[in-house]
Amino acid sequence: MLLQGRKALVTGASSGIGRATAERLGQEGASVCVNYYSDKEADDAQAVVRSVERSGGTGLAIRADVGDEDAVVAMVSQAADRLGGLDLLVNNAGIEKQIPLLEMSEKDWSAVIRTNLTGAFLCLREAAKVMAGAGHGVVVNMSSVHEFIPWPGFAHYCATKGGLKLLMQTAARELAPKGIRVCNIAPGAIATPINQFVLDDPEAKHAVESEIPLGRMGQPEEIAAAVAWAGSDQAGYVTGTTIVVDGGMSLYPKFV
Ligand code: NAI
Repeated sequence: MLLQGRKALVTGASSGIGRATAERLGQEGASVCVNYYSDKEADDAQAVVRSVERSGGTGLAIRADVGDEDAVVAMVSQAADRLGGLDLLVNNAGIEKQIPLLEMSEKDWSAVIRTNLTGAFLCLREAAKVMAGAGHGVVVNMSSVHEFIPWPGFAHYCATKGGLKLLMQTAARELAPKGIRVCNIAPGAIATPINQFVLDDPEAKHAVESEIPLGRMGQPEEIAAAVAWAGSDQAGYVTGTTIVVDGGMSLYPKFV
């Protein structure tokens, strides 16, 4: 097992990639704090907690909006207290909404920046304080191929994922002397609720899959596997970089 005895916090872990990641970290021997956003996700979060506990670790669900500074401070402190430390943060929570640039209000823009970028910063800062005290830790941010592929209609989303790149690289330099590694995982198109509009439309799904050399969308478990490795000692010399897990999507001619 890659993460025996480690203590992890995964944000936005009641669905999709976050859920698969929390469950996989549990299967690798970790205790996991499952962050979720709203009351309507509480049951799903509890199901993830039970899955972690079936694997043998401690599971704990905490409701918090990652864009709310006070809520993040409280969540990280509670997670570290209840789990007995914090070895791995997975900054996974994220939202997207297609809006043409010329119609994008400041409110539309700020909502995505607040969750995807400010949320990642706040969780990183608080978790890194705990990790620095222990002299070790790992932060994995869920970025996207839109860290480097522009995506019309998603300027705010791309700005957050591009921002996560330099946040990650700067944090990696700044925190390396404290024993903390920081990296990004950049998924391609993954079959999760965030992509329901594509999954529900056969033509749109075909169009997406035709841009992927492996010919299919990825599964959340395939991203979770990369997080488990990146968070483990097997990746002990990996920091300041983005690991792309996209079925070859970013090799597609129009993107290079
Ligand atoms: P998802 O919609 O299933 O998961 C996103 C999670 O974030 C949800 O559980 C949601 O409740 C949570 N969340 C939203 N706002 C939050 C807030 N303010 N505080 C705490 N949690 C909040 O979608 P998916 O695909 O699992 O997304 C996870 C991450 O992966 C996101 O950062 C997304 O940008 C990224 N990603 C997804 C790709 C895909 O194709 N599915 C591709 C590339 C990146």
